[in-house]
Amino acid sequence: MAFDFEMIQAKYAEMPERIEAAKKVVGRPLTLAEKILYSHLAEGTPTTAYKRGESYVDFNPDRVAMQDATAQMALLQFMQAGRAKVAVPSTAHCDHLIQAKSGADADLEAAKDVNKEVYDFLASVSNKYGIGFWKPGAGIIHQVVLENYAFPGGMMIGTDSHTVNAGGLGMIAIGVGGADAVDVMAGMPWELKFPKLIGVKLTGKMGGWTSAKDVILKVAGILTVKGGTGCIVEYFGEGADSLSCTGKGTICNMGAEIGATTSTFSYDEKMANYLRSTGRADVAEAADKIADCLKGDAEVYAEPEKYFDQVIEINLSELEPHVNGPFTPDLAHPISELAKAVKENGWPEEVSAGLIGSCTNSSYEDITRSASLARQAAEKNLKAKAEYSITPGSEQVRYTIERDGLIEDFDKIGGVVLANACGPCIGQWTRINMGKDERNSIVTSFNRNFAKRNDGNPNTHGFVASPEIVTALAIAGKMTFNPLTDTLTNENGEEVKLDPPTGMELPEKGFAVEDAGYQAPAEDGSGVEVIVNPDSERLQLLSAFSAWDGNDLKDMKLLIKAKGKCTTDHISMAGPWLKFRGHLDNISNNMLIGAVNFFNEKTDCVKNQLTGEYGAVPATQRAYKAQGIATVVVGDENYGEGSSREHAAMEPRFLGVRAVLVKSFARIHETNLKKQGMLALTFADKNDYEKIQEDDTIAIVGLTDFQPNKPLTVVLRHADGSVDEIQANHTYNENQIAWFKAGSALNLIKEQNKK
Ligand code: F3S
Repeated sequence: MAFDFEMIQAKYAEMPERIEAAKKVVGRPLTLAEKILYSHLAEGTPTTAYKRGESYVDFNPDRVAMQDATAQMALLQFMQAGRAKVAVPSTAHCDHLIQAKSGADADLEAAKDVNKEVYDFLASVSNKYGIGFWKPGAGIIHQVVLENYAFPGGMMIGTDSHTVNAGGLGMIAIGVGGADAVDVMAGMPWELKFPKLIGVKLTGKMGGWTSAKDVILKVAGILTVKGGTGCIVEYFGEGADSLSCTGKGTICNMGAEIGATTSTFSYDEKMANYLRSTGRADVAEAADKIADCLKGDAEVYAEPEKYFDQVIEINLSELEPHVNGPFTPDLAHPISELAKAVKENGWPEEVSAGLIGSCTNSSYEDITRSASLARQAAEKNLKAKAEYSITPGSEQVRYTIERDGLIEDFDKIGGVVLANACGPCIGQWTRINMGKDERNSIVTSFNRNFAKRNDGNPNTHGFVASPEIVTALAIAGKMTFNPLTDTLTNENGEEVKLDPPTGMELPEKGFAVEDAGYQAPAEDGSGVEVIVNPDSERLQLLSAFSAWDGNDLKDMKLLIKAKGKCTTDHISMAGPWLKFRGHLDNISNNMLIGAVNFFNEKTDCVKNQLTGEYGAVPATQRAYKAQGIATVVVGDENYGEGSSREHAAMEPRFLGVRAVLVKSFARIHETNLKKQGMLALTFADKNDYEKIQEDDTIAIVGLTDFQPNKPLTVVLRHADGSVDEIQANHTYNENQIAWFKAGSALNLIKEQNKK
């Protein structure tokens, strides 16, 4: 990992000066989040005080992580950038596509077979372009990142919402869409609205049944699923210092469930211990030397109300274990109140399955504490009444817990170890003993619990809790069981009580692994061939979009005038389409099929102006494309809100839509359209939306003098021969206009890389 350590050293060398400069321009002490943000500005040394929640700022993240589902399109796009290697250290992780069914070995073999073409592509493209590749079975992206790559004070983006897990090691780590990952790997800056800051002060010390998970379950109850939106959550106080590094990771991980941009903790002894224990004593030593840069200033933590936009205080000594759910992670129940809530709401009392592990909770500490309960239960003649499974976060954790006899402990109460992968957490779970629609309750140590998340069954009531509480509830088989107060009847008919769990933060004998499942990239990848089967249904190499021909856009047809909400889900649906996310032609068959046609109020039913017939949106668009006719999509307010998926911008571009004209855009989608070389325009007068008619032929005039802040003219030729001229605004800057002219941002990068 020499490449990484050199990068970290270089970062640490420049941080003190940048932070000093930031303090000067901001004119006050800084939080940790601000120190990290200001030391990663693309402009270098800070010269401007940015406004939280308002300023859009360009950053240079230190690294990129991708999981196998989202990496496919990101890497297909990256191949277009014309670079020999990625610009920053990057990794790809095969964790999302492994189906949990019978147990680790069989499930892993089955996945290797079913997903062979995806794995072959990812392995070869990683090898060629200098990307670290973690094979199927190596582990879950966020656990592997924490064990190998996260470092205090670093900034990382990752193509998965729980990238935020790396905040446990003092990073600013943010989940993004594939398009952002492509930019950073291609050497471009990455833009983020400067976040607001929420401070969470932790006092006291946890004990007994309470664990780090309960901190975030409590915070979720306070802030709700939206309360963290646009914010970084920074934890501090003596309670924060008492939490293990992996415990901090758990808390940051579930920051995604409150909508937070990310969460983080200041560098401390617990982080240093974790770094040493995972073979990175050099990073700990380097971090010690600039420790002040890796913590918020003392003045900030002494008077947090002055420096954070919102402050929450939690006393860990009084914190009860929590169980949150069902169907939403912010429905928080202290364990003492759970039984009442279950009865009052009529939720299924019996626990059908308890699942521990996942990227959220599979640390050595989590496993040892849960195993201590399993061991106790076996000694007290108890078995798990519910189905019980353990998903290790990485092969390193799995190997170490096996070596230390912990898997045997789970075995004694009927626990099954699943593959080191996402499995049931992402719905990759074939349940053998449960009907498809059967009402039932499950309790997991995962992070998300919305309907259908784990097993596709809308009647599965998903609850989230710490692994210790999940284990206790699985042993009891009842959601109404409170292990702090209640007894259980064992196989001999005796009443027994579980003692509080005990565990170890880090393995006494150190971590061990025989084969971590890592493939280092080739030093020189120029001779490596990227493997894509030309007949594949799931993967397709991309071709560059054509450059602008230098003329105004004329004789375009209206494809659809979308009415009301049109999110990226309406533009590019998920569900069954996800399997095509590496194949642009195939996934384009879902383009705009969820959008409501203004003229007939139907979805996926638009008029083909060439034939007068109504048909599906993708088929109609393909018919125009076959005739060489470009089209325009018209939309309503906040067009393209929702996930940042880049397919929603790539599909229209691929099928020949040239412009999207709306009342207003969701910003990320607007930028994604610009990156793909599309025209993203807004009505200067929103009432002009009414002027768009079903049989319109449309021209966009003014492109030969396309400039920032200069509106374009849209000419609508209606079927009756009348003409309307309206104004369209845009937010293109010089660079984005260059993207449009080149045909896409990647085309421009490629041209620049040639020079
Ligand atoms: Fe995977 Fe679930 Fe984490 S899907 S990355 S284990 S949130």
